[in-house]
Amino acid sequence: MSVAQGFAMPTSTDTSLPPPPPEGAAHSQKVAEHIAAAIVAEGDWIPFSRYMELALYAPGLGYYAAGARKFGQAGDFVTSPEISPMFAKCLALQARQVLELTSGNILELGPGSGVLAGDLWEELKGEGVAPERYFLLEVSPELRERQRKLLAYRFPQDIGRFVWLDRLPEKIRGFVIANEVLDVVPCALAYRTGTEIFERGVILSDAGFAWDDQRLPDGDLKRRAAAAFPPGDYDYVSEINLAAEGLVRTVCASLEAGLALFIDYGFPEREYYHPQRSTGTLRCHYRHRFHGDPFFMPGLQDITAHIDFTAMARAAESAGAELHGFTTQAYFLISCGLAVLVSAGDPTATLSRLKATSGVHRLIGPHEMGELFKVLGVGKGIDVPLLGFQSARHLQL
Ligand SMILES: C[S@@+](CC[C@H](N)C(=O)[O-])C[C@H]1O[C@@H](n2cnc3c(N)ncnc32)[C@H](O)[C@@H]1O
Repeated sequence: MSVAQGFAMPTSTDTSLPPPPPEGAAHSQKVAEHIAAAIVAEGDWIPFSRYMELALYAPGLGYYAAGARKFGQAGDFVTSPEISPMFAKCLALQARQVLELTSGNILELGPGSGVLAGDLWEELKGEGVAPERYFLLEVSPELRERQRKLLAYRFPQDIGRFVWLDRLPEKIRGFVIANEVLDVVPCALAYRTGTEIFERGVILSDAGFAWDDQRLPDGDLKRRAAAAFPPGDYDYVSEINLAAEGLVRTVCASLEAGLALFIDYGFPEREYYHPQRSTGTLRCHYRHRFHGDPFFMPGLQDITAHIDFTAMARAAESAGAELHGFTTQAYFLISCGLAVLVSAGDPTATLSRLKATSGVHRLIGPHEMGELFKVLGVGKGIDVPLLGFQSARHLQL
C-alpha cells in the first residue's frame, strides 16, 4: 500500500542490540510496511494485540510465519526441550501415566522446532508405549514444515503416526502439552491513569510506530483490568490475555479424558498484577538478548508476555476441567523423577555428564528457568495423583 511505503524503520533506543544483516533489515522493513498499512486501513489505530499478531503471524512475514531461525544458539531464544533432553524424558514419564489411564493420544500445541515431539516419541517408543497418534497443532506453516522434516528424518517408519491439525479437534483424549505457547498468543495492553482505564494501541508517527491510548468501552477487557489491577490511582500498565484464556478454554472443552499441561513463564494473578510490576511483563527476544521494545525490527524478534496462571486455571475450570496442580518447573521435573534420570547416565562419561548437568541446572536453577517457569495441569476423568505433581510443592493460584 503506497501510504506505508518509505515508512520510517523502527529502531531501538537500546544500542546494545546487534544490527541485523541487510537481508534481515529489508525483511523487517516489509513487515513494518505491512503493519503500517493495516494501521491506516483499520482507522489509524490498532490495539497492541493486533500489532503483536501481525508482527508474529502475518502470513509470509511475521516472526513465526517467515524463515527466522528463532530457536537455539543461532536464533533468538532457547526453550527447555532444546536445552536438555531431560525435559522430554521427564514429560515422557508423565505422558506415559496419562496415556495408560486414558488409552489416548498426544496433542502438542505449538511444537516449534519439533524437538520435544521427537524426544517424547523416542522415549515412549523405546518403552513400547508410544500412542497410536501424535497430533501437532502449529499455526506457522514454516514451522510445520520444519517439524515434518525433523520427524520424518528421525522416525521414517513412524511418520504416518504424526498428524498435523489445522484446528483443535472436537474431542481430545490423552495427553496435551503446550510449552511456551501461551506467552506468544497476542495479548491486550491495558493502561490505568487516575481512575480511567485505556487500551494501549499503536499509531503511525513521523518517527515510526508510536503508542496511543484509547478510552476503553465497557466490556471484558475493561472489567478484567479493573478487577485485576491493584487498587490505587497511580499509572499502571499490564497485559490481559483473553485470547490465551480462550485457547485454554477450548482445549479443556474438547478434552474428554486426560491431562493438559501448560508450561510457561508467569505468575498467579496476585503476583502478576503486583503494585510494583507497574509496567507489565512484555518482553522481546532478539539474538539472546531481551528488551522491552516491540517496535524494534518487527518480524525479526519474538514478542512475548508472561502468563497470568490464575486466569488460565479459571478458563480451564469454566470448561469443566479440574485443577491437578500448579507448581514450578523445577518441582514438576523433580517430582517426575529428574534426579533418578540424571544419575542413570554413565558415571565414567565425564564430559557428557557435565554437559547434561549444566542443561539440567538451567531447567531447574532458581535464577534460571526453575522458578519463573510454572506448570499448570488441568484435566478430566483422572482421579489418581499425577506423577509431576505428587511430590511437588503446590503453589497458590
Ligand atoms: C516460543 S515457541 C515454543 C516452541 C516449542 N513449544 C518449544 O518449547 O520449543 C511458540 C510456538 O507456538 C506456536 N503457536 C503460537 N500460537 C499458537 C496457537 N494459537 N496454536 C498453536 N501453535 C501456536 C508458534 O508458531 C511456535 O511454534
